[in-house]
Amino acid sequence: MAFYLGIDIGTSAVKVILLDEAQREHALAARVLSVQRPAPGFSEQSADDWWQAVDSAVSEIAAKCPIEIAAVRAIGLSGQMHGLVPLDSQNTPLRPAILWNDTRASVEAAELAEAHPEFATIGGNLVMAGFTAPKAVWMARHEPELFAKIKTILLPKDYVRFCLTGAKISDMSDASGTLWLDIAKRCWSQKLLGFCGLQIAQMPKLVEGSAVSATLLPALAQKWGMSPQVVVAGGAGDNAAAAVGLGLRNTGEGFVSLGTSGVVFKITDGFAERAEKAVHAFCHALPNSWHQMGVILSASDSLSWLCAVTGQELEALFAQMKSEDSDKCWPLFHPYLSGERTPHNDASAKGGFFSLSRTDDAGDLTRAVLQGTAFAMADAMAVLDDARGQQTLIATGGGAKNAYWLRLIASLTGCEIAVPKNTDIGAALGAARLAMLADQMTLACVCTPPEVAYTIQPDTELAAKLAPAHQFSRQLYHLISKM
Ligand code: XUL
Repeated sequence: MAFYLGIDIGTSAVKVILLDEAQREHALAARVLSVQRPAPGFSEQSADDWWQAVDSAVSEIAAKCPIEIAAVRAIGLSGQMHGLVPLDSQNTPLRPAILWNDTRASVEAAELAEAHPEFATIGGNLVMAGFTAPKAVWMARHEPELFAKIKTILLPKDYVRFCLTGAKISDMSDASGTLWLDIAKRCWSQKLLGFCGLQIAQMPKLVEGSAVSATLLPALAQKWGMSPQVVVAGGAGDNAAAAVGLGLRNTGEGFVSLGTSGVVFKITDGFAERAEKAVHAFCHALPNSWHQMGVILSASDSLSWLCAVTGQELEALFAQMKSEDSDKCWPLFHPYLSGERTPHNDASAKGGFFSLSRTDDAGDLTRAVLQGTAFAMADAMAVLDDARGQQTLIATGGGAKNAYWLRLIASLTGCEIAVPKNTDIGAALGAARLAMLADQMTLACVCTPPEVAYTIQPDTELAAKLAPAHQFSRQLYHLISKM
């Protein structure tokens, strides 16, 4: 029997899964990652930490399942998008990677957007601070000696591929988040790179997510007890990988993801740019396929923040929420703790609680955080093409275990939400599936929908009760952003 590895380089953890050709999971290993925040708005990780975590997790699986690991035919990669990993001529990272939720490059982002409308037309997207291009310009401005030494720029999962294979390669979906890809033509744009003082020669080669990118280095194959013929698939950015993991491959199919960031994702009929609303229009991880995304920067991250400031575990906070208050909508929470992308594109947006009372307790704050993030998710959904009505979104990510949170999102978006039995391993599963596709298995056989545990219908009564607070929340954002 053939086996496949899926490796996901997340922000909070690296996850590796081992599947057989019937997609039965034989092993799962994870390693926690930390994020360094050396200054307000900064968010960094060391690229070497990703590699150490991958090496350690794969070694664990290799020790536990030596027979299965020897039968692995292909590896798939997925990863947090947009991270800037600049390498020097020795292929050593020049500085810690600047991550997707880092907002230091907001000035550079605004300048690029103003000077070069081609980012929206060719690049398909508004220049947002979290994307890779403005970070490179920030580096050129603030760290010119380091910038001058850049030989290659890689994305997080592509740095791991480089460690696995020695090859510098990216895939179309992840490359879309750099702002240097011609999204319609699926190739690097020298014009967009030139606006940032860069050349195509500094970028990795491109392959489709489901194609073979390179072969595992013989030394690693030997170390892990794998065949030297193991190939690494192109892989995908974490959201496109999650979509493959959830079986999404036809126009109109979509998901809602509640991880550190919150994402609404829809496969579009071709390249569908909507940059003016900060909609992400990217290549999908499957050939000749594109998607749109709305991204909010602090979904579960808002809950993690609340845990940190209250000193309480998440379960304890949930336990203090009173079910009879589930449609109460004050106090109100703005989840813009790390700025916001869709629909505001405002790196300096700030979070906050509003309309607090002396009687509000930790349970009320928790409900406010769930509602405030649900408002933001609905605002992101509202600007996607054909946003409303009669559609099903599949739920994924850690937050998909919270039925109340999903009910809020279903009610505010008007979409039915299908909750799979396993909400945990979307991106790693998608990565493993891309490995299967690279090994010539067929899309119809590999890219199947998950088993659904239950479905949540929009609750129109709840939506009506929340509507005034949602409306007020939008007005408040616009009022505050002008201050
Ligand atoms: C997508 C995005 C996030 C990261 C986090 O545009 O920035 O979803 O990929 O993993």
